Amino acid sequence: MNRKVILYIAMSLDGYIAKHDGDIDFLSNVDTPGSDYGYTDFLNKTDTIIWGRKTFDKVLSMVSEVPYKDKKVYVVSKTRKGNHEHIVYHSDVVELVKQLKQQEGKDIYCDGGSEIIAELMKHSLIDRIIVSVIPHLLGGGIPLFREGIPEKKLTFRQSITYPSALVQLWYDVEDINKSAASATSPV
Ligand SMILES: NC(=O)c1ccc[n+]([C@@H]2O[C@H](COP(=O)([O-])OP(=O)(O)OC[C@H]3O[C@@H](n4cnc5c(N)ncnc54)[C@H](OP(=O)(O)O)[C@@H]3O)[C@@H](O)[C@H]2O)c1
Repeated sequence: MNRKVILYIAMSLDGYIAKHDGDIDFLSNVDTPGSDYGYTDFLNKTDTIIWGRKTFDKVLSMVSEVPYKDKKVYVVSKTRKGNHEHIVYHSDVVELVKQLKQQEGKDIYCDGGSEIIAELMKHSLIDRIIVSVIPHLLGGGIPLFREGIPEKKLTFRQSITYPSALVQLWYDVEDINKSAASATSPV
């Protein structure tokens, strides 16, 4: 199966995805009429979305109905079960992603947040990172990458600089253990 799990996310230059209280107003600094920073193109290459439960609650607080009705949307939570509109709750993000990777389909969009990113990175289940760096310092908050994520080698793919000064960085995540094993492999 070649479908990738892609983390597509925005962070402040100092590495935060939200303030401690979940505020993400800094993202509006780069709102630009007519530019979605490649988001529509990215969405078209995906058919599945994964949200952490806190990210989903944030989405719910901002919209009148849950978006992405044309996609499979999973919210991972150990406290909620069943469905909410078209979304499905799942209690184990690692198991979920392993299952999805075995299925045919387009790429899988992981939106975060930080807790589920850490869990997926620990299990080497994120294949690509597309991070939009917002020209803003939050000074503290919820970090994109929490302490405890194992060391990873990244392969740079591209950077795109937008007129708003948002810089989008694309990296593929290499598995250090796999790289080391293949480097010493006789074949
Ligand atoms: N800047 C951006 O682009 C961006 C993108 C995404 C999110 N955000 C922001 O990030 C914040 C949320 O991030 P966060 O790190 O606090 O929370 P999160 O990762 O969105 O959600 C954490 C929740 O996910 C569930 N969870 C965690 N690990 C799990 C596992 N192994 N299996 C199953 N469920 C698991 C738990 O839900 P239960 O408590 O229900 O068990 C946990 O409380 C929000 O403010 C959001 O707006 C920003």
